[in-house]
Amino acid sequence: MGPCRVGAGGMKQFAAFRLDTANECLWRHGARIALPPRPFMVLRYLVENPARLITHDELLDALWPETYVQPQVLRTYMLDLRKVLGDDAGQPRFIQTLPKRGYCFVASVSEHDGDGRDAGVGGDGSASKGRRIVGRDEELSRLRAEAKRVEGGQRRVVFVTGEAGIGKSALVDAFCQRLDAGWSVARGQCVEGFGGKEEYYPVMEALGQLCAAAEGERACGVLARRAPAWLATLGRQSDEGAPRTHERMPGDLCGALEQIAEKKPLMLVFEDMHWADGSTLHLLSALARRRAAARLMVVATCGPGDGAMRGAGEHSLKGLKQNLLMRHLCTEIALAPLSRTAVKELLARELQQESLPPGLTGFVHQHSEGNPLFAIAILEHLIARRFLVRAGTNGSARWEPTGAFEEMEADVPERLAQMIELEIGGLSAEEQRILGAGSAMGIAFPAWAVAAALEEDAAEIEEACSGLARRLHFVERGGQDELPDGTRSEFYVFVHGLYREVLYRRQAAARRATWHVRIAERLGELFAERVWAVAREMAMHFDAAGERGRAVSALRSAARCARDRQEHSDATQLLEEALRMAERLGQQDRGAGVRAIREELKDTQETTNGGAGRLRIVQRKA
Ligand SMILES: Nc1ncnc2c1ncn2[C@@H]1O[C@H](COP(=O)(O)OP(=O)(O)OP(=O)(O)O)[C@@H](O)[C@H]1O
Ligand SMILES: [Mg+2]
Repeated sequence: MGPCRVGAGGMKQFAAFRLDTANECLWRHGARIALPPRPFMVLRYLVENPARLITHDELLDALWPETYVQPQVLRTYMLDLRKVLGDDAGQPRFIQTLPKRGYCFVASVSEHDGDGRDAGVGGDGSASKGRRIVGRDEELSRLRAEAKRVEGGQRRVVFVTGEAGIGKSALVDAFCQRLDAGWSVARGQCVEGFGGKEEYYPVMEALGQLCAAAEGERACGVLARRAPAWLATLGRQSDEGAPRTHERMPGDLCGALEQIAEKKPLMLVFEDMHWADGSTLHLLSALARRRAAARLMVVATCGPGDGAMRGAGEHSLKGLKQNLLMRHLCTEIALAPLSRTAVKELLARELQQESLPPGLTGFVHQHSEGNPLFAIAILEHLIARRFLVRAGTNGSARWEPTGAFEEMEADVPERLAQMIELEIGGLSAEEQRILGAGSAMGIAFPAWAVAAALEEDAAEIEEACSGLARRLHFVERGGQDELPDGTRSEFYVFVHGLYREVLYRRQAAARRATWHVRIAERLGELFAERVWAVAREMAMHFDAAGERGRAVSALRSAARCARDRQEHSDATQLLEEALRMAERLGQQDRGAGVRAIREELKDTQETTNGGAGRLRIVQRKA
């Protein structure tokens, strides 16, 4: 159990409502609204986990773990809740339905104790959120200083960088929670493997949040006027009817965001930009470089970018950051490992015990090297191995070691990677094979891909994966993919990239290559009618398998499809990628291929000249 989040009389506030967990009711402008227990539980869960997708399964598992509850019942509860909150499913201010997936509580939530003081603890659910962070005072005050400048009308872009698990997200979460209500905050998360699939993926996520927030109507209105194509892509139409252009122009969006920020300073958080697509990077660059005053702050988190699988934008992200730094158009907050004192505080917080067993801090600090994710994992490991146990009776129970920490030296490997290795080593050969094949897909892996890689039955693999997700703490069920043939396939997620990396790296290269090729081929079969949609992903797998010729072919055929569909800029991008890849081919393979691609590229570019001209005008106007 974590520290008491909502103390007696503690309330969560959203718009005009306060959720009173102590008395299990809702307050609106001082009036008490009674709710039946079940809808109340649903609302409480949503409010305590705002701004993220909550799947039907998660909700059912969290609220009724022992009972079978028909998923349709949730719909009824949502209807009731919407009535009470005066919410509109079409234009949700509170509960957004994500069809076939679940719900998202979109209003911003703050915490109030009985005195109405800001209790400072957040309410957005994930492990890192809702907790105080340790040892990041200087970084928080740098972020605050940047926010002050933004309030004064100066746009700011901040990169928060550091290795996996160092606490980038935790820092940004903590900072956003401390921002006062005068700010609007919207976030977008880049997802590994999505960079090549969906243009502007994190940007669209953030825009969705902006529009769905309590004051979302205004944001929607501004987008309708200044960036209608963006609004249309969100599935919302402007009042003026169909957008004038189908193309999402970065300049339009920059202008719209700046206008949105006129009323309330706007904070855009883009998480894990090392996985961003090229278009998102382009937009970030435009936002940073525009000269007009704007109360706009962009915080981008990014890792060192040396993952086993390169994201589409890695090189250009580094280039972009360097370039902006040189021109003083952004700042970087590079997170260092936690000090020993901070590790001590972290342990005290995790164990909820002020004075720690002698030796524990030094041990964890040394082995985690100050990485909070590692530190927490080591602590969990010590507890799992029953090296740290809770001794004493209820009231006076304390965590005590069962031996000297030196005894654990051999047991706790120096690095988390090794700990993960150990954990994986405890699994059966079959389980290791399944997870290994999953790691070839990335952080998220659908069961069908694992089945394809291993040439096994998809239903059996799905069953095995769901067993693993239930049992292991580092894999969880992510949701369902609907495949073009109408079948559904569950997909799973490694809770941390490190697990995926360790699993991937420990495979022999030849085996990995076989898996990648099989996954690419299966993608080609499944999406035969829409190859263009998966071409980049196929190319990435062929490339990872060392089959560059096939990667090039996949990109070229997708480019042809794009041209047939008049999507010339997409075709150009695909051909440019094909060209870059073809240029890396061996001598005898590359000659004719490279020449042919250049020809195709020239043809396509001639057709798009109009588009490029338009982009230039937009940028000059800005
Ligand atoms: N300063 C801190 N104080 C307390 N806990 C922290 C701190 N920093 C990170 N943590 C905890 O460590 C874990 C990893 O942190 P976080 O997810 O923020 O890292 P990250 O740098 O964003 O990692 P990734 O690169 O994987 O996104 C989380 O459980 C988080 O709550
Ligand atoms: Mg993170």
